[in-house]
Amino acid sequence: MAKLWIANDHAAFALKEALIKQAQDLGWEVHDIGAQPGESVDYPDQAKALAQAFDGMAPDRGLLICGTGLGISIAANRHSHLRAAVCHDVTSAKLTRQHNDANVLCLGARLIGVETAKAALEVFLREGFAGGRHELRVNKL
Ligand code: RB5
Repeated sequence: MAKLWIANDHAAFALKEALIKQAQDLGWEVHDIGAQPGESVDYPDQAKALAQAFDGMAPDRGLLICGTGLGISIAANRHSHLRAAVCHDVTSAKLTRQHNDANVLCLGARLIGVETAKAALEVFLREGFAGGRHELRVNKL
């Protein structure tokens, strides 16, 4: 069973619960290593924890959630085995899999609605990498 590694800061508890259920319903083995209710944490530490737990190898994926998705994506992309993309719509989630072979989806819990987040995650988990000319470009990252 493919694994989904999840980390988050304190802005993301409610959305994370909905997305854990979504991923489990889709057949993913979920590993929640993020902040738990009552904790206040720093998003760079959460991205680092995910980078240490997740080796970046397909078919496994990562999910990072903070208030905007921005800080945690910047932090995640400091780790060379992670390709993290902030997506607030389904099309971005689909294209970052197809074109960038992104292996970590970043979401902003204060910006995105739960139904859009669930749809974006579903597409991110389902879509494959298109390869070809995109592979040449990804190899330059
Ligand atoms: C935390 O308050 C907030 O700054 C963080 O969740 C995130 O939005 C940073 O990019």
